[in-house]
Amino acid sequence: MAMDDIINPIRTAMNGNAQAMSEVSRLKLQDSLRAAAESLETPHDTMLRLFNSNLEISAVRIGCDLGFFKALDASSTPLSVKELAKGRDELLIGRLLRYLASIRLITETSRDHFTANNCTKALANPAIQGAMYYTFHIGGATYQALPDFLKEWNYSGDTFGRCAFQKSVNTELPFFPWVKGHPEKLAWFQQLMSVPREGDWLDVVQFDEHAKSVGSDRALLVDVGGSIGHQSARLRARYPDAPGRIIVQDLEETIQAARPVDGVEFMVHDFFTPQPIKNAKFYYLRTVLHDWDDEKCIQILKNLIPAMAPDSQILIDEMALPTSGVHWWSACLDLHMYAMLGALERNEEQWRDLLEKAGLKFVEIRPYQPVMRHSIIVAELKK
Ligand SMILES: C[S@@+](CC[C@H](N)C(=O)[O-])C[C@H]1O[C@@H](n2cnc3c(N)ncnc32)[C@H](O)[C@@H]1O
Repeated sequence: MAMDDIINPIRTAMNGNAQAMSEVSRLKLQDSLRAAAESLETPHDTMLRLFNSNLEISAVRIGCDLGFFKALDASSTPLSVKELAKGRDELLIGRLLRYLASIRLITETSRDHFTANNCTKALANPAIQGAMYYTFHIGGATYQALPDFLKEWNYSGDTFGRCAFQKSVNTELPFFPWVKGHPEKLAWFQQLMSVPREGDWLDVVQFDEHAKSVGSDRALLVDVGGSIGHQSARLRARYPDAPGRIIVQDLEETIQAARPVDGVEFMVHDFFTPQPIKNAKFYYLRTVLHDWDDEKCIQILKNLIPAMAPDSQILIDEMALPTSGVHWWSACLDLHMYAMLGALERNEEQWRDLLEKAGLKFVEIRPYQPVMRHSIIVAELKK
């Protein structure tokens, strides 16, 4: 069978528009195609693929540094090496562009001419560029340190708060206090956090119904560790007239970076201290607890309990992993949490256990992204 006979039906099915497919179909198709390509590999092919993996992210950073992705995305016609080089060494710039085209992050249209494709457009997005700088500088250095860190700790999952990240930058500080002193890196992290991810948690919480029971003085939602407030801004945009306050809490350096949003309040609060906003309908923690080991998570949760009204709920927006067949991104993020923070992604059993230890009632898990298992885990006060 000719290659085009295999690939063309897939291209036609997607109609060049991956966003039009359901998330589940898209991710499953991607994984099947990758698995099919890998099953065709000779040992030499496998070696070459892995040999290439470190250079890919370096080339992406160079492409961001030199503005290739933004320039190609902004241009309706292909750009030449000369135009992209902007007076720099055209031979070298051409070699860099050739490599980026060979790994399909840009498209070569003719000799020394390139245009944007869907990957180029993604890499032109400032938030995704921030994520790329984060993974190049922080994730990459941490992954380099991980094998030796694991050896030193005899491959223990419990490292008493120590992690490979600290080894990579030679610090005793955990990531969050460390990054406070590195504003450029903090900005990359905030950009990474602002990139929309698969699924939408707003689809599994009916705020319009709950808002009816919340007067304008009561907090509808406290976004604990809410970064620069992107989720609260989305909530307010979806329910502009919902009564009740929406309050984003985070550390001072992050709240300072937040832009004002109509109908959303920002406040500095350390979640290792008692929650100052009493009786909120919802206390929302999105990808906060996966940053911490069980002991610290229990402290964070226990600091919410005295503030809660009998009808308050804690909404934990995290992955609830299956016990087998974990998607590669979920497995990657779990190890990222271990390497960066000595923490983890949890499965349903681990969530139930954690809530029990914090003295809370586990109510239910509402998955909103079935492949990566992003879910809202609901907890309440014990009666
Ligand atoms: C992984 S980010 C998640 C941010 C946001 N909830 C989201 O999903 O985009 C964790 C957040 O916890 C914040 N954080 C870390 N330590 C904190 C503390 N002691 N008190 C309050 N926020 C803290 C960080 O600044 C960061 O914004």
